[in-house]
Amino acid sequence: MQSILIIGNVTKDVYLRLDNRTNKFETDDKETRWLDISFDGSRHDYYARASIYGGASISLEVLSRFGLNANISGTPATFLDGQFIAKDVRTTYRYILCQDENVSFLGPSEARYSTWEVPTNNPDWIYLDYSANISPKLSQEIIEYLNLSHTTKLAFCVDTHDDQSAPHIRALIERANLVISDIQLRQKVENHVYVANGHIEYRGERVFWSVDKDKDLITRFSSHLTIAASIFGALALGKDSSEALLLARANIEKSNLSSTANLSTLEKEIADDYYRIEKTPIKDQNIVEIEETAKKLLTPGKGILAADESGGSIHKKFEAMNIPDDEQHRRDYRNLFFTTPEIEKYITGIILFDETARQNADDGRNFIDYLKEKGIIAGIKVDQGLENFENSDEKYTKGLEGLDDRLAEYYKMGARFAKWRAAFEVTDHSPTNFAIEKNAEILADYALACQKASIVPIVEPELVYDGDYTIEQSIEYTGKILDQLFKSLAERNIDLPGCILKVNMVLAGKKQAQQSTPSEIGRATALTLRQHVPGDLAGIVFLSGGQSVEQATENLQEITNNGPYPWPVTFSYARALQGPALEAWKGDNANADTARQAFKERLIANCEALKEK
Ligand code: 13P
Repeated sequence: MQSILIIGNVTKDVYLRLDNRTNKFETDDKETRWLDISFDGSRHDYYARASIYGGASISLEVLSRFGLNANISGTPATFLDGQFIAKDVRTTYRYILCQDENVSFLGPSEARYSTWEVPTNNPDWIYLDYSANISPKLSQEIIEYLNLSHTTKLAFCVDTHDDQSAPHIRALIERANLVISDIQLRQKVENHVYVANGHIEYRGERVFWSVDKDKDLITRFSSHLTIAASIFGALALGKDSSEALLLARANIEKSNLSSTANLSTLEKEIADDYYRIEKTPIKDQNIVEIEETAKKLLTPGKGILAADESGGSIHKKFEAMNIPDDEQHRRDYRNLFFTTPEIEKYITGIILFDETARQNADDGRNFIDYLKEKGIIAGIKVDQGLENFENSDEKYTKGLEGLDDRLAEYYKMGARFAKWRAAFEVTDHSPTNFAIEKNAEILADYALACQKASIVPIVEPELVYDGDYTIEQSIEYTGKILDQLFKSLAERNIDLPGCILKVNMVLAGKKQAQQSTPSEIGRATALTLRQHVPGDLAGIVFLSGGQSVEQATENLQEITNNGPYPWPVTFSYARALQGPALEAWKGDNANADTARQAFKERLIANCEALKEK
């Protein structure tokens, strides 16, 4: 029997779901509701599931139910006859308050460092679970022990709060035989399970999971613990990756907190057709082609130019500068950028609008062919703009009708990637789940059509900068939008290494009084992407969204500084690359060289911002 030594902290979780009808709440001038706990004998009603052991006891339970011989280091605790039994455990109490959708924790902010005692029998595995709070000393002790005990393997759960750049955490990641994390690792790691809010991925396979909110008071922490221990347990027993993923999904979906299922029950469960890992329906040869294109587009140190403004957007820009909006001027404007000397040193691809894709360079060659000769890949915007949902001020993106035919034509013309933008405005009632779900489905339908046509899809969900929202709201909405997007992409079995995400940086809205600093933006963007984007995606590019040219560069620099990331990360701006050139050109080709110079300056500055400083 395999033996596992768990390192982690035992917590005692006291769950309180507040009763909205009978509790007293005070409302302040910002309409925030506060729970009024006055000691006047008034009642406080809650549904309590008091005293549930959490943290390392969950790992112990799951592993015991998988038939593994597990114990917690330094803690005389066992899991016997379906019960966690602990003597003399120094337990950390956490009170978990739940009101509507909001869950908050009351407990010590400083977690106790986990304890370690040299095991008397060499365990097969040391399992550092999410509740393990690892000091540099503990890290060193574990590594020293592993150096002596050659047969013992290490599994390490990296938590959102672990500082991955700290040497003692890095050392454990490097030493581990298996790493499980609920945040993307800064570096690619061979044997890595990623547990996101809603999906689990391992070795290019992924499964989706969800727990019914009403079923149980289960928190992100305890659900991620259950998933991590289930996957680990299955792999320790020699199960293959697909089976381990499915067992973890079944365990979290079928179990109640503190009564997870036995392995035999789970094995029966996953025999059902409902639990299936589907392979992508896209042909192998298409996959080879799109993955190669995506890789070229994301060549390190370079970006992608968005020159795909629709007729309406160009009209507004030209009108504001008294430039005639006719086909010739629009061609001359695009020509300006494409003919800037040496752009291929800074960009790998250019996104075109349909009209431009059919226009010619000065020498009479079609623009797509002209760019190809420079080594630049032509892309094409294939969405057809935004339309309001019925009886709503929220929007969806049009253009699915006839998309297959258009993609086939664009491929013939030489385009090798495409773009589709969904836009979400933040108001007091939006973005709604409805708009997020619908747009994610549409984006996924578009992505599938692209991949079938050997065209790399850029999926672009944009939280519109022009609004009054805080950076915390941006973190929340961007995360939610990304979760839904990747769920929809997986439902259609999109090949992620052949797909690119284009997204907003995470920052406070333009109209918000409390503007975000570049360092806040760098951190929030890095965190949001690491928590919500699958690791095998081809890469991530940013839109500038109406930030000033300087802001877009400065913020990109901060994002770079928060790297490295598991994916290539770069810019794909329109306004922040083209703005100064348009101002210089003024619609007059006599100014073309000055305009080209202004464009090149932005290219150089943004490529510089891709280098860590
Ligand atoms: P901005 O950089 O101007 O936001 O444009 C990027 C883009 O392509 C939006 O769809």
